[in-house]
Amino acid sequence: MARIYTLANQKGGVGKTTTTINLGAYLSSLGQRVLLVDLDPQANATSCLGIDKRSVRAGTYEALMGSRPAAETILHNKQFKLSLLSSAPALAGAEVELVNELAREGRLKQALVPIKDRYDYILIDCPPSLGLLTLNGMVAAQDGLIIPVQCEYLALEGLGMLLDTIERVRKALFPQLRIRGVLLTMYDNRTNLAQEVVDEVRRHFKNQVFTAVIPRSVRLAEAPSHGLPILAYFPNSAGAEAHRALANEVLQQDGVKVAVEA
Ligand SMILES: Nc1ncnc2c1ncn2[C@@H]1O[C@H](COP(=O)(O)OP(=O)(O)OP(=O)(O)O)[C@@H](O)[C@H]1O
Ligand SMILES: [Mg+2]
Repeated sequence: MARIYTLANQKGGVGKTTTTINLGAYLSSLGQRVLLVDLDPQANATSCLGIDKRSVRAGTYEALMGSRPAAETILHNKQFKLSLLSSAPALAGAEVELVNELAREGRLKQALVPIKDRYDYILIDCPPSLGLLTLNGMVAAQDGLIIPVQCEYLALEGLGMLLDTIERVRKALFPQLRIRGVLLTMYDNRTNLAQEVVDEVRRHFKNQVFTAVIPRSVRLAEAPSHGLPILAYFPNSAGAEAHRALANEVLQQDGVKVAVEA
């Protein structure tokens, strides 16, 4: 049965999608069967894998609306052995269309039930909001949330709102919801500020923070325009090393034994 992690932070541009793609790609390279779920109407995760969002016929939207089973619409990237439940702009409509539906926050969780046993890891990439789509991501996060935090000024600002939302979800919908890990992203070792943010986040979240820290890296920013995860675009870059370390850390913490380290 898959471990299901959701990448969430309502702050935009903190590295949710970059982490989803690259963690997913490294987990797959380590022999794990990985499904990525693009829960963002911007469809960045879908585009990052080289798929034109305008060509997407069905995916997350249909799964949420219950109009087509996820199993029928999952795409397979053979090169990186990644499966994808893709997004398209129509997904934005789901926020509104689901409002009057019963159990509207549990739609994604339900949609994943029939396919869970086909994967070792399911990673869900949320949009930068705390709306109904992200709530669906949280309720589906069976094994916890991965929260990317950018090592920049005001990094902790807004995390309060995220933590409040997590608390509300625990109270009303999913009491076992946990934080799987806080991931420090876009770390720039030339600035004191970045180190201060790292210290502050570690003080606050203690052992919930991943040891792996993702550096600011031009290669990471370039990779999506080539439709490639960093392991294929620049496997020796610092950004690649960091995601590889993250994948190994996740596997180790999860008690998953792999034959060879990536
Ligand atoms: N470590 C990094 N170093 C340099 N650039 C990065 C890094 N991580 C992400 N980026 C770039 O920063 C931008 C935002 O990253 P990303 O799309 O992963 O964030 P996000 O949290 O998913 O954003 P959104 O909230 O819009 O969904 C992208 O252009 C991405 O390529
Ligand atoms: Mg994103």
